[in-house]
Amino acid sequence: QGIPVITVDGPGGSGKGTVTQMLARKLGYHLLDSGALYRLTALAAMRHGVDLDDEAALTREAQDLNVAFEPTPPGEPARVLLDGVDVTRAIRTEECGDNASRVAVIQSVRDALLQRQRDFRVLPGLVADGRDMGTVVFPDAPVKLFLTASAEERAQRRHRQLLDSGVSVSIDDLLEDIRARDDRDMNRSSAPLKPAGDAQVIDSTGLSIEEVLERALAAASRA
Ligand code: C5P
Repeated sequence: QGIPVITVDGPGGSGKGTVTQMLARKLGYHLLDSGALYRLTALAAMRHGVDLDDEAALTREAQDLNVAFEPTPPGEPARVLLDGVDVTRAIRTEECGDNASRVAVIQSVRDALLQRQRDFRVLPGLVADGRDMGTVVFPDAPVKLFLTASAEERAQRRHRQLLDSGVSVSIDDLLEDIRARDDRDMNRSSAPLKPAGDAQVIDSTGLSIEEVLERALAAASRA
């Protein structure tokens, strides 16, 4: 070990993806978007005709995941290839996110993805974004952040994002999805979403992304 890692956990829409990217860019560290691995497992299952109830087959999908993150400058989101095909956008749909959170409740799937995530910890350092980065994957991380925001605010952020990309959906539907996903992520028995005992919690409700980054950097320098 000895290689620095900053963990950034929290629910979807808490701003952790953006904060992770900004921290990685600022520090020149590598970036792990662990949610992408769960999304890729779900997408691989969908594309390979695997039933989302078939735990053994889903575990094999996770073990055999043929994925490449195309190298980009530090802090830039990677291009993602599954079976050699660019799926950078395909893994970002609501359907894929929802299926990812179903696949993510299966302990053997989580076990299959564990070492793949730890392999991202290389010099000069790593910023890791997810749900269990501080609790399970990198429990020895010297800096652990946990970002939250109210479900309503997260639904509004997602709504704006979708509108910007030309997709119009109702805020109420988004809010319902977010609540369902939170419920699944927080109440599952394996690696539930919760702050590590030594994590610094940042509530981003009502804050701009710059304000959140400022707090994240202050927290990182306090650790
Ligand atoms: O962060 P993102 O929305 O891309 O994650 C998709 C889903 O993957 C989450 O809802 C969660 O269920 C699962 N996940 C997880 N552990 C992680 C990252 C994501 O269980 N470290």
